[in-house]
Amino acid sequence: MATIDYEQKIPNNVDLKSDKKLQRALEKWLPDYIEWWKDMGPTDFNENDVYLRTAVSVDRDGWADFGYVKMPEYRWGIFLTPTEKERIVGFGDHFGSKAWHEVPGEYRNMLRRIIVTQADTEPASVEQQRMLGHTAPSLYDMRNLFQVNVEEGRHLWAMVYLLHGFFGRDGREEADELLERRSGNPDHPRILGTFNEPCTDWLSFFCFTTYTDRDGKFQLLSLAESGFDPLARSCRFMLTEEAHHMFVGQTGLGRIIERTCELLKEHDGRDVRELGGIPLEVVQKYINFWNSSSNDLFGGEISSNASNFFASGIKGRAYEEKLDTDHRANEGIYTMEVFENGRLTTKEVPLRNAMNEVLRDEYVSDNEKGIIYFNKIVERHGVDFRFHLPHRRFNRKVGIYSEGWFSIDGTPISETEWLGKVGEWLPTQEDRDYVQSLMVPCLEPGKYAPWIAPPAKGIDGKGIDFEYVKL
Ligand SMILES: [Fe+2]
Ligand SMILES: [Fe+2]
Repeated sequence: MATIDYEQKIPNNVDLKSDKKLQRALEKWLPDYIEWWKDMGPTDFNENDVYLRTAVSVDRDGWADFGYVKMPEYRWGIFLTPTEKERIVGFGDHFGSKAWHEVPGEYRNMLRRIIVTQADTEPASVEQQRMLGHTAPSLYDMRNLFQVNVEEGRHLWAMVYLLHGFFGRDGREEADELLERRSGNPDHPRILGTFNEPCTDWLSFFCFTTYTDRDGKFQLLSLAESGFDPLARSCRFMLTEEAHHMFVGQTGLGRIIERTCELLKEHDGRDVRELGGIPLEVVQKYINFWNSSSNDLFGGEISSNASNFFASGIKGRAYEEKLDTDHRANEGIYTMEVFENGRLTTKEVPLRNAMNEVLRDEYVSDNEKGIIYFNKIVERHGVDFRFHLPHRRFNRKVGIYSEGWFSIDGTPISETEWLGKVGEWLPTQEDRDYVQSLMVPCLEPGKYAPWIAPPAKGIDGKGIDFEYVKL
């Protein structure tokens, strides 16, 4: 069923009306969600018309419909990518057997935990970004922020549908708790570290959507392979929305770099701070921070959980179905550098235990492409600076590398060396204060804040001076 039933209070393509109990439960959750949105979603812009896209069909083409919407009236709903054929479990111990349409009893807890962890990131990011509307560098950027926010809200809906629909009472309780935890709250924080970090300036926002949303992409890719079919199909549809979030991040950073390069050329040799731009070194430090923090989201390098998730057929590798490989991964080994007794040594790990690292490999190589894109911009301007991706061992709080200190290129160093260098690698208070000082709203159609270049083109064929948000 490709069409979405918009006649219902909760738009969906899962024939919700034929399951009255589930429909009632979700309709009961809806006002709590709206209340959370008004409390913890974007502040103060809930009465404004925003030019947003809404999914109208889950087909490959033409799923988006653009128009002015007030955010609390956005049609959040439950959209699953339709199945084309009878799916099989594509990996692990159950490889080749029929995919599950109900939760397999023995994996219930594991599956619920995975869904809750994914779900928790969605409202968390909305909370982290809630103040940014006030300092938007343009109406175009403000609209993109709100688009990301409403779609993260919809991702929460996707996961809550699974919890309500397949996990009975404890699923409903988990769904309630998703609206109770708060990003950055020391007493009741969100589950994962990065989702408790403050994101109060637009440079952070663009790094977040580049690196943290890209973690989201890879988590969704691995869950899109799941043997639990409703989870796989939910994640497949979420991926289509995720692509836009990374576009916002990547092009946002690209436009900041573009603007700084223009300033460097026009005012040869002067500190771009005097001209209101963001130094490339500062952009690099923010990249270092958000990238290293997002590396943690993949979990430990050697992980029995990862092995169990894979063995059970619940969480696969990215693109598992397309991989020309042993889908059971029983025999393989993965060679990695581990940090033991203060030094790096090479170790062979059973492949299943290294699944987090396998996924992180894909993530790192995707990020490297992003760095090439940034360097093309500086090259085009003839500016003598090159961006680089921090090594995956750098600044880790999770996994084997969190036990030591590593330089930006992954070399083990002493704590003293770290303390001497950290100000060159990660944003200092001075950097943060400077970036924050630039966060002055620029809200006239067609105008852009002086620290960021306008985009190459607008959204949905509209100009870059279109009134994307009616203030
Ligand atoms: Fe999301
Ligand atoms: Fe996202």
